[in-house]
Amino acid sequence: MVKRPEHREIDATAGRDAQVDATRAWVKRTFYGETIIEIWDLDFFYGRNRVLHDVSLGIPKDGVTAIMGPSGCGKSTLLRTLNRMYEVVPGARATGEVIFEGENLLKSDPVILRHKIGMVFQRPNPFPKSIFDNVAYGPRIHGLRNRRKLADLVEDALHRAALWDEVKDRLKDSAFSLSGGQQQRLCIARALAVRPRILLMDEPCSALDPKASDRIEHTARELAEELTVIIVTHNLQQAGRVSDNVAVLLADGELAEFGPTRSIFESPQDERVADYLCGRFG
Ligand SMILES: Nc1ncnc2c1ncn2[C@@H]1O[C@H](COP(=O)(O)OP(=O)(O)OP(=O)(O)O)[C@@H](O)[C@H]1O
Ligand SMILES: [Mg+2]
Repeated sequence: MVKRPEHREIDATAGRDAQVDATRAWVKRTFYGETIIEIWDLDFFYGRNRVLHDVSLGIPKDGVTAIMGPSGCGKSTLLRTLNRMYEVVPGARATGEVIFEGENLLKSDPVILRHKIGMVFQRPNPFPKSIFDNVAYGPRIHGLRNRRKLADLVEDALHRAALWDEVKDRLKDSAFSLSGGQQQRLCIARALAVRPRILLMDEPCSALDPKASDRIEHTARELAEELTVIIVTHNLQQAGRVSDNVAVLLADGELAEFGPTRSIFESPQDERVADYLCGRFG
């Protein structure tokens, strides 16, 4: 049974290498797989306001990890830290370590990072361009000019985002001619076109009707077969359906619990998480 994030079980006086090894071992025991990102002692500040407190967790490479918690607890902030999207906010800063591919990503090149860690936002935000050009945008920035290769890449990304059949005959139409759910899948395709290793999704269904949400959830599950998906949701049912693992933050930006979704939903160890899951707050 997973009680608390691994760092509580790890000797605080051990060196960082020993701690990293211990985290990997914990993740292997708990999730039967490797980690793709290890977060260590992450604090996050907007100016002087500290909104994440000492968050440490290893995110498994396989499957979908959900980040949950009451409104304002720091879910989006945690997600945005993972590809440094917070940097557009003046006065925002993160301290601690977030290890990805052997480097602290808080100190790596954000442009390269965002190609490896793509993001989909709460509201669909296609560019004012055609469907094709939206998806081709990233590869073109990378310098891909070959028309045939671009067309193949666009088709592949649209397939993986489960949108191809609906748009294959209208690729030159404006992205704004699509429904909200289709626009969100287009944004997923746009993120996928640069072949990221991780896809971050911040409440990707909150602006969509149940049917469109269902398609996004299904797509997220399918994508998890080939990359790591990390999704923020405050919808318990959605987290239950879509995620393999869940991290629950509490109102003070503290990570209260992290582990396989089923064991956390069925028997949360932290009383505050149990209250949250019962809908007593949040
Ligand atoms: N740009 C910002 N400038 C200052 N404070 C911010 C900014 N964005 C968020 N905050 C504050 O940081 C805290 C965490 O916000 P965040 O958006 O990460 O929470 P959340 O869990 O995603 O909330 P929600 O469920 O409402 O989306 C909140 O107190 C919020 O007011
Ligand atoms: Mg949010």
